[in-house]
Amino acid sequence: MWKFANPIKHQILETRWPAAEEAAGSRLYSPVAIGSLEARSRTWVPAMVPWRATEDGFVTQQNLDWYRRFAEGRPGVLVVEATGVRDIPSGPLLRIGDDRFIPGLRKLVEAVREASEGQTLLFIQIIDFLEVKRRPEKAKYFQRFLQIDEHHRGALADVENDRVWITAPEAEIREFLQNASDEVVSAVLRPRELEALLYGYRERVTDMDLKHIRELPNELPAIFGAAANRAREAGFHGVELHYAHAYTMAGFLSAQNDRADGYGGSRENRVRLPLEVYREVRNRVGNDYVVGVRFLADEVIAGGSRVEDAIYYAKEFAAAGFDFLSLSKGGKFEDAQKPKVGQAVYPYTGQSGYECMPTVLSDETGPFGRTVPLVASIKQAVNGAGFNTPVVATGGISTFEQAEEILRLGQADIVGMARQALADPDWFVKVRLGRGNEVRRCTYTNYCEALDQAHRAVTCKLWDRVNLDEPGIATVDEGRRRLEPPHWVSQDLQD
Ligand SMILES: Cc1cc2nc3c(=O)[nH]c(=O)nc-3n(C[C@H](O)[C@H](O)[C@H](O)COP(=O)(O)O)c2cc1C
Ligand code: SF4
Repeated sequence: MWKFANPIKHQILETRWPAAEEAAGSRLYSPVAIGSLEARSRTWVPAMVPWRATEDGFVTQQNLDWYRRFAEGRPGVLVVEATGVRDIPSGPLLRIGDDRFIPGLRKLVEAVREASEGQTLLFIQIIDFLEVKRRPEKAKYFQRFLQIDEHHRGALADVENDRVWITAPEAEIREFLQNASDEVVSAVLRPRELEALLYGYRERVTDMDLKHIRELPNELPAIFGAAANRAREAGFHGVELHYAHAYTMAGFLSAQNDRADGYGGSRENRVRLPLEVYREVRNRVGNDYVVGVRFLADEVIAGGSRVEDAIYYAKEFAAAGFDFLSLSKGGKFEDAQKPKVGQAVYPYTGQSGYECMPTVLSDETGPFGRTVPLVASIKQAVNGAGFNTPVVATGGISTFEQAEEILRLGQADIVGMARQALADPDWFVKVRLGRGNEVRRCTYTNYCEALDQAHRAVTCKLWDRVNLDEPGIATVDEGRRRLEPPHWVSQDLQD
């Protein structure tokens, strides 16, 4: 994990919790229109992948229990994890790329409706991603993956100062490179080949030599449109198009996107496919259905999009008719750390990853609400352009005071809490009842994120070892971790 050079350890904010009457009259617990719907409060649980789907992308009992548990806390909006729009293998991540996924998703909708008694709006985040391979063993890479051509022969001849490599048999070149120093290997491989060796092969939206990448603008609108339609059929209140972090659509929005086919280069061109996808989705689901977007306030990578780009996109998205704008930050592959051999690069290990899920080991600004100033400038620009599309701020927000202040200052319309909701899904109901002092406070040290990185079932360190002998609970790791937080028993009832 990336760290600041001289990190400052921040304490979890001391806070004052409101009494029930104050909460009832607060902005946070006031309703907000989202497209044709109304959320009961301005609280929001953003998408979090819990690694609980089947290997082939179906909803499991564990998924149902997970979302039911969040729904019991009754946030205004709950967003289901990034769910793949294509029908391709992607490990235990939910999929919505075929009608056969609809019945499971329908059960999920039903579980949330029942547990929240219809008081939580349920959206699903839909995502497309490109191929990312695991980091290969050096021997395998040189023996099987690398395609030797004139470039390698010439570079090897130069670096070794020996023309024999120009005509040497391929097997000899492979053998030599496999045992060569890092310096020689770096001199001989092209940058992308070196990346494939050290990080694992990774596709980009700019790989125009690949037909399926060239064709993305032709294919993605229909794929997203069909997926959104399935979300509607399954009964979700809306869809969130995932245009953030390290994935395909964020790749189009990125300032690094220099495609020369009209879908890269200028901001106007970079936003073209994201808008075309939106229009097709809208076509399929109709005007009365909620369609929102999650995108980046800043990519936090060299040569990446900054807040000025995000402001431009936000205005375009609002003008096009998106029903909400949910902002995130960073979470890119470009600055991720080298994975171990056999593992895949994880887009939350570099500085951009830090900014996406900031921890208490921070700079002077600290982890609490550090994206809010960017979100505020985006919201101001959207409103200034005459749109009132609700804007969601997320990142290190965990107290009522913080959330209420963001709303009071007009920095956002809705406040998202991912890790705090994971630490205590009852946050929303506890605070509303004037029981904020019973909230289990997130410590922002990212035990949950480490589990995500290892593709293991995500839990929170504050509750996954509590009451392990409770009858009937689901556990993992041979009973060492429970999969859902214990149920809240109010302190009054315990006394
Ligand atoms: C375990 C885990 C999984 C996540 N999965 C997603 C995801 O599927 N889609 C997404 O947009 N963000 C995802 N995020 C990012 C969160 O939605 C959120 O933006 C981030 O954690 C910062 O908010 P917080 O400080 O309230 O946790 C994930 C975060 C965590 C901790
Ligand atoms: S594991 Fe840590 S960072 Fe994650 S939700 Fe729990 S307390 Fe917060």
